[in-house]
Amino acid sequence: MSPLHVIILAAGQGSRMKSALPKVLHRVAGKPMLHHVIDTARALGAAGIHGVIGHGADQVRAITEADDVQWALQEQQLGTGHAVAQALPNIPDDANVLILYGDVPLTSTETLQQLVLKVGECSLSLLTVTLDDPHGYGRIIRDEADKVLAIVEQKDASEHQHRITEVNTGILALPARLLKDWLPRLSNNNAQGEYYLTDIIAMAVMDGVTVSVTQPDTEFEVQGVNNRLQLAELERWYQRREAERLMTEGATLADPARVDVRGELSIGNDILIDVNVVFEGKVSLGDRVSIGPGCVIRNANIAEGTVVAAHSVIDGADIGAGAQIGPFARLRPGTRLADHTKVGNFVETKKAEVGEGSKINHLSYVGDAILGRNVNVGAGTITCNYDGVNKHQTVIGDEVFVGSNTSLVAPVTVADKATIGAGSTITRPIDTGELAVARGRQRNVQNWPRPEKKS
Ligand code: UD1
Ligand code: CA
Repeated sequence: MSPLHVIILAAGQGSRMKSALPKVLHRVAGKPMLHHVIDTARALGAAGIHGVIGHGADQVRAITEADDVQWALQEQQLGTGHAVAQALPNIPDDANVLILYGDVPLTSTETLQQLVLKVGECSLSLLTVTLDDPHGYGRIIRDEADKVLAIVEQKDASEHQHRITEVNTGILALPARLLKDWLPRLSNNNAQGEYYLTDIIAMAVMDGVTVSVTQPDTEFEVQGVNNRLQLAELERWYQRREAERLMTEGATLADPARVDVRGELSIGNDILIDVNVVFEGKVSLGDRVSIGPGCVIRNANIAEGTVVAAHSVIDGADIGAGAQIGPFARLRPGTRLADHTKVGNFVETKKAEVGEGSKINHLSYVGDAILGRNVNVGAGTITCNYDGVNKHQTVIGDEVFVGSNTSLVAPVTVADKATIGAGSTITRPIDTGELAVARGRQRNVQNWPRPEKKS
């Protein structure tokens, strides 16, 4: 079998995006369009991936850290045929070449596998689509026997040809040997003065090479992005598909149009996801997890039966089973909550390990801390983890009771079953079973004369 080499065209300016960012770096589902295409090439098992870049080349290269992509610079955009030619020197003669586009992000690997399967020593494989409105696209010209003869660009097409609704997606696959034969023979003698890749179809027909055609399941798969409207259309299609997948896999979505997945979300059964929830990065939800409205959840594992109430933000956290989070909780990276923990409203945690059954119910900051089992952290408790220069740890044993509004000045250790009186500022270690009270004593003054307003 010939090795598959994928060429990704990404040199164009994308002026209709009206953006300082190169078009192919605009994101669909949180990922630059070009990266979607590179991932597709990888999924196809490409032996080589070749990115043709021009406008914003440095930026594209910088944002795309990929050892497996070989870049080719197209300094002037002289047409799609010229663009492909820039990558050709890096492609072995015995390869099959698949041509993709950095601004066509969502073609399925299944469609492309079918396309590539039809490439033979003497056959070229073309992806076309039939559109209600074919305006702007290259038209597929067929003879009476339905054999493909050529592609004619919109600007070069006759009035009769303009009525053809089968159009070129731009995506095609063929043996490198043929490409290397045909590309040097392209001319730019056409309405746009460009070297059209599409002209190789007529050359194939001339040389007796078979042109076989594949069509995608839906036109979104081959939809390119020229402006932000089309970007949003693809985003919505992507999200609709994700929502359908989640429902198929056992999630109830309060509204399939109001959940966004920007990454990889894996789920168990009987998941509940309320409206306006955003998932980012790698997230897994165990059976019966429930996510309230307005939550943002990034790079997190949430075990079975845990309830995340409204407007919680979870980032880089591992949460055990049967936990209760929120509403309005903020879990930051390095948070590890054991089973049956509770983190309530206006609580922020960071690099915090919280043992089974422990509760931090209201208005607290717990950072750089280790808490044992069944600890109760009273409202308004703060770990003072930062001395202005360095971060320090707070370690709290099992069954500790931390009174409300306690400041734990780290580094500090509180042993098992200790009790801290409300309003304490703890600066020294507390031993097992001790009560620590560290606050000004209350003084009552009898018959205190209140100040009176001067007349
Ligand atoms: C091209 C096809 C057309 C097809 C359409 C599908 C040609 C001649 N025409 O037309 O048949 O229906 O795509 O969208 O191929 N690019 C470069 N360097 C260049 C020129 C283009 O990298 O010199 C890249 C662009 O960044 C873009 C892609 O190739 O991503 C397509 O180029 P564009 O000029 O938009 O081609 P279309 O006119 O859309
Ligand atoms: Ca285009």
